[in-house]
Amino acid sequence: MLRFSTAGESHGEALVAVLSGVPAGLKIDLAFIDRELWRRQQGYGRGGRMKIERDRAHILSGVRHGATIGSPIALTIENRDWKNWQDALPVGPGDPERHKAVNSPRPGHADLAGALKYNLPEARYVLERASARESAARVAAGAIAKLLLREFGIEVLSHVLAVGSAAMRDADIPWEKIQALYAREEVLLNCTDPEAEERMRAEVDNALKSGDSVGGVFEVVARGVPPGLGTYANWDERLDALLAAAVMSLQAVKAVEIGSGIGAAASPGSAVHDAIGYRRPKGDGRRDYTGFTRRTNHAGGIEGGISNGEDILVRGYLKPISTLRRPLESVDFRTREPVKAAYERSDVCVVPAAGVGGEAMVALTLARCALEKFGGDSMGETLRNFEGYKKQLKDY
Ligand SMILES: Cc1cc2nc3c(=O)[nH]c(=O)nc-3n(C[C@H](O)[C@H](O)[C@H](O)COP(=O)(O)O)c2cc1C
Repeated sequence: MLRFSTAGESHGEALVAVLSGVPAGLKIDLAFIDRELWRRQQGYGRGGRMKIERDRAHILSGVRHGATIGSPIALTIENRDWKNWQDALPVGPGDPERHKAVNSPRPGHADLAGALKYNLPEARYVLERASARESAARVAAGAIAKLLLREFGIEVLSHVLAVGSAAMRDADIPWEKIQALYAREEVLLNCTDPEAEERMRAEVDNALKSGDSVGGVFEVVARGVPPGLGTYANWDERLDALLAAAVMSLQAVKAVEIGSGIGAAASPGSAVHDAIGYRRPKGDGRRDYTGFTRRTNHAGGIEGGISNGEDILVRGYLKPISTLRRPLESVDFRTREPVKAAYERSDVCVVPAAGVGGEAMVALTLARCALEKFGGDSMGETLRNFEGYKKQLKDY
């Protein structure tokens, strides 16, 4: 089974990811992993921290001579900022005078709930782990999942649909436009429509000017997913449920939509369900799994908790960032007197970066489901199983 976990704190020495269950013989492209990490650091409205960090994955185990060997893959991502925090957050006892306490919890962040839960006198340790710096480790693990998915002809990308109240008017975006975004060397708001992207930029500018923050919506698209991943057989094996949990687990994501799920709730069934057609399979590449076709894809590629062969569409809805330059009311942990919430260098808008985190979570989930269906201990065995399943679909 594909499993992963992360460790590491925002201002600790490094982030860590451990990924196990990857078959032996998968080629690992380090430049690709680093580019994914770079993509997570981009976007208009990021704070000063991302100017300090230049994330690179350092693989410690599980990869030899450029390919996986079947054992757990451990990797680290150095925190360059650590050099500025060694005295404040030492592993040893250190000097309590150098500790940087966070005494006024930020509404919307984990500060108060975390301090109460872990019985901590202030919120420093809470935000160190709750911070989305952790998502860099997920993106590195997700990049390996993407390399695995490529072997099945599956690609996972994202784009931004809305920042604050600036939303794209047309939500049906051609794949080629999303691919073009991926190729960009400069990322503004990762939106396929330049006019909408300008409106999004204005939202960020307003937030910057007024000391506020904005949220938004990203969409992850997985293309080339064969029908048959996930199942309705048990609640915790449904692909839609797994994807929703995976994307919801990203910091600041407060709602997840599969396909046009939100709009569908207010629409008649005839306008929502994707009519089925058939044409003889052309055999034009890996994506042509069956002859069954759909005129629309409101279901977002999943019916009955199973992928149906259409693009998988998952949207993540982000609340606005909770660290505000013009902070909300809070209470001092020490005195219980009213104070303004803490402000620490912060992002103002992270929707494009969250989209990259969303890609990682979708890729890890699809890779897990693909390996549950086709998995073997080596890539040769896995791809043999996959070819057999493809033939079964063709012959259906
Ligand atoms: C890529 C990314 C970057 C983030 N950067 C910040 C930030 O700079 N400041 C902040 O207050 N929250 C930031 N957040 C959101 C917080 O991590 C998140 O709101 C907090 O951990 C509380 O968790 P919750 O929002 O899921 O309840 C970021 C989220 C993401 C996805």
